[in-house]
Amino acid sequence: MEPTSQMGMNRTGAQMSPMDTEKMERYSESMGPDVGIDDMNAPAEAQPAAELRAQYIDEAHLVGSVPLPGTVKGAMSTTMDKLTGNRPEVLIDKLGERLAFERQGTRLYELMMAKCREMDTSALDPDVLSTLSHFRDEEAEHFALVDESMRALGADPTAMTPCADVAAVASMGVLQAIADPRTTVPQCLNALLTAEMTDNAGWELLIKLADSTGHTEMADKFRQALIEENEHMATIKQWLERAVVTEAS
Ligand SMILES: [Fe+2]
Repeated sequence: MEPTSQMGMNRTGAQMSPMDTEKMERYSESMGPDVGIDDMNAPAEAQPAAELRAQYIDEAHLVGSVPLPGTVKGAMSTTMDKLTGNRPEVLIDKLGERLAFERQGTRLYELMMAKCREMDTSALDPDVLSTLSHFRDEEAEHFALVDESMRALGADPTAMTPCADVAAVASMGVLQAIADPRTTVPQCLNALLTAEMTDNAGWELLIKLADSTGHTEMADKFRQALIEENEHMATIKQWLERAVVTEAS
């Protein structure tokens, strides 16, 4: 496998230019420290960034909303849930998040497969491509499972829920890292591990939420997905360790 870490002409560190570093330090000392958001005792005019941030937070609206049910079945199911004291919008929001994440997961594995086709990954595992393809298919199955669960509740799986929106923003870096043609297989595995760890925690939470709101049948189906997600996470972690340790020695 192509090495990830090589010595080269990297000039980003301070040691590469002691004279400029000295000038930079003199300048930063003359400017004094930035007054951060933590220093709430400082007068407002002394912390413009914190002041501006606070103003934005005060004025901001929420990131979107959970759509009202668009079908009779959805309206009835929502009413029943409300009558039993549950707020169905919380479950629908988190289902929407999982749906978006699994769709993204399918794309991440496709990008990963494209990368592995161009590189020698035999040191990781002789079956890397078929394992990745299997995981990609499972992500797609999980997507279909969540889609079906949302429809069963009468919710609209094509709507972007607030948590789906925020999760998509948070995971943008993972997609960018894997899609970057310069990144190596271990670097992509590292990014993929970030996604899989978040995904695992997401399924655990969804199972608890479905159970606690009385959707036990749904929770049981999600438990199977969690078993598969655990395998994804463990495999990616193991490959990453193998790749990095092999390269170092
Ligand atoms: Fe996964």
